[in-house]
Amino acid sequence: MKAGRCPLRCKFERMDKFIVEGPVRLQGRITVSGAKNASLALMPTCLLAPGVFHLTNTPNNRDVWTFSRLLGSMGVFAELNGNTLLLDSSNITSYEAPYDHVKKMRASIYVLGPLVARYGQARVSLPGGCNFGPRPVDLHLKGLEKLGASITIEGGYIIAKADRLKGTHFHFDISSVGASVNILMAAVLAKGHTVLTNVALEPEVTALARMLVKMGAKIDGIGTTTMEIQGVDELKAVTEDTIPDRIEAATFLLAGAMTKGDLTLEHVNPYHLTAVIQKLEDAGADIDVTGDSIRITMSEAPQAVDITTAPYPGYPTDSQAQWAAFMMMAQGAATIKDTIYPTRFGYVPELQRLGADIEVGEMHCTVKGGKQLTGATVMSSDLRASASLVMAGLVAHGHTEILRVYHLDRGYESLEKKLNAVGARIRRVPTEEY
Ligand code: EPZ
Repeated sequence: MKAGRCPLRCKFERMDKFIVEGPVRLQGRITVSGAKNASLALMPTCLLAPGVFHLTNTPNNRDVWTFSRLLGSMGVFAELNGNTLLLDSSNITSYEAPYDHVKKMRASIYVLGPLVARYGQARVSLPGGCNFGPRPVDLHLKGLEKLGASITIEGGYIIAKADRLKGTHFHFDISSVGASVNILMAAVLAKGHTVLTNVALEPEVTALARMLVKMGAKIDGIGTTTMEIQGVDELKAVTEDTIPDRIEAATFLLAGAMTKGDLTLEHVNPYHLTAVIQKLEDAGADIDVTGDSIRITMSEAPQAVDITTAPYPGYPTDSQAQWAAFMMMAQGAATIKDTIYPTRFGYVPELQRLGADIEVGEMHCTVKGGKQLTGATVMSSDLRASASLVMAGLVAHGHTEILRVYHLDRGYESLEKKLNAVGARIRRVPTEEY
């Protein structure tokens, strides 16, 4: 898939729908893809050095495609061959991320740090909010200002300028994956010593730091909340493997459990899933971890177990909608609290259409399990909400039509193919909507 070479209306731009037949029981083996949120952090590093990068185990999903097109608009040659993404940044021609790209994917803002660090300038559209609330970027901008960049906002765009970024001390007021990614990429080319504290611990941030070191950056404290960076004058293009997608893995584990199935996931990193595994065992699932595979079996309805999301290694907000779907099968009531995105419950009205008994409160929802679920037409609203709808369709009696699955395609590679291979009955149907 070449950036820009995708046919005018490629699969990532159609508004397909899924028709899911239920109930089914999932049984078999699934290979988990590379992590979307790692790819989105690794891809912009190509702006830090000229040359040809190879990112292996890159998932073929819509967000990677969108980011490839953005980088393509800046002069990067991007080509996904299978799951190896080639990025040739020998000829950067633009330092801009237009609104049209950023509105499709917030992570487009990740070009900001590298552009300012290497070229001393950037014009990047402010990302909007999203379906689950405002998504501020103040920490991204404060960090860059602390590194010596001048930041102005003009017409919805961030205008950043710097002769040469200078090492500094910067503390992230809150744990932010995106701000950690952006500021880390900026600091590695800043002149002098930088200390970052309260850096996000998510595996995707650690993966980025490891890649930057491979490129020639000097970083201490990788995997901790305090990173010390000694700026260098130049970096080099490298080949880097992408870590497995812990959120895709969590989605499949929960789908296997809720169908009382027997599912083995391959090519995962169990250490990235400790909070999810713990909660699944609390709910009564049997989990067997062997190297880079996890087997989950469940024969009874789950116990009702509450979750509260938190920054890594806490329970991930990106899997709270999926936990809510799972708890629809439970005996009793479970409360799902999201401390990161307090309004990330857009999936609730859609699950209610299938017969779920869920109430939304302040920063939480409460699922009363055990209700008979019946297929209906539901609307995807965001990536992870859509995943919870697919899971619900697997257990609802009859057909569930899930509209606008392009939300799902953002973060899951061939989701329906993977699930159908282990017993699901999902049809992807193109619609006339674009
Ligand atoms: C990343 O988003 C992920 N996206 C999100 O996954 C994930 O939900 C989120 O981290 C939390 O884990 C990618 O990695 C591409 P944050 P990000 O900055 O970086 C506040 C998915 O489904 N904040 O860690 O935008 C923010 O409002 C997506 O794959 C500020 O206040 O999240 C939130 O409450 C959805 N100011 C908290 O920090 C800032 O400058 C954590 O956000 C930045 C963030």
